[in-house]
Amino acid sequence: MTSTTIVVLISGNGSNLQSIIDAIESKQLDARLAAVISNNPDAYGLTRAKNHGVETHLIDHRQYASREAFDEGLLDCIQKYDPDYIVLAGFMRILSSAFIQANQNKILNIHPSLLPHYKGLDTHRRVLENREPEHGVSIHLVTPELDDGPVLMQGRYAIKADDTLSDIQYRGHVLEHQMYPQLLQYLSQQRLQINNQSISFDHQPLHQPIEFTNN
Ligand code: GAR
Repeated sequence: MTSTTIVVLISGNGSNLQSIIDAIESKQLDARLAAVISNNPDAYGLTRAKNHGVETHLIDHRQYASREAFDEGLLDCIQKYDPDYIVLAGFMRILSSAFIQANQNKILNIHPSLLPHYKGLDTHRRVLENREPEHGVSIHLVTPELDDGPVLMQGRYAIKADDTLSDIQYRGHVLEHQMYPQLLQYLSQQRLQINNQSISFDHQPLHQPIEFTNN
């Protein structure tokens, strides 16, 4: 029996969405993807979802007078699926506090940096410019502060002297596509449990993010 229902929010290419769809179809992830919602009509992720028979919705933020009105429309759409988790996968809109508070401990985001370092946009370029020795990916709970909620899982990789922007973007994506399905499976298996103010992994309080390793 499938234990976890998710709704995925996207704005663009949807390669992370694809990794989640693939993991569900190959039974590596025991979850039901109830719907995919995009704020962008041109998001290729909408096509990916339709190709796999997943319900899609376009909620175009440009049709709403304010962030709050957009978030209300989003919430109305999401609520009919009653998801366990709202999975942000390249969803490039800042959510209002009201939306986040209405979905406390339910909203997950994947971010291309080792949080708390490099919040915000353009992380790969900034990391390269600063000649950082390593970089990575974080999956965190969404709280009202941008890219600031508790980090649940991190994966890291070394940056080599001759790495280009596209090299590190590529390595980050490879990692992301393994991490999101794995994290969701931990939630589905209830190995990872998120309750008010307490997060545990395998019955131990999670003091540090789960370190993702792909072996
Ligand atoms: C991903 O790399 C994700 O980490 C990033 O957007 C990309 C979406 O790719 N998210 C953020 O920067 C959020 N702050 P995708 O559409 O191919 O999954």
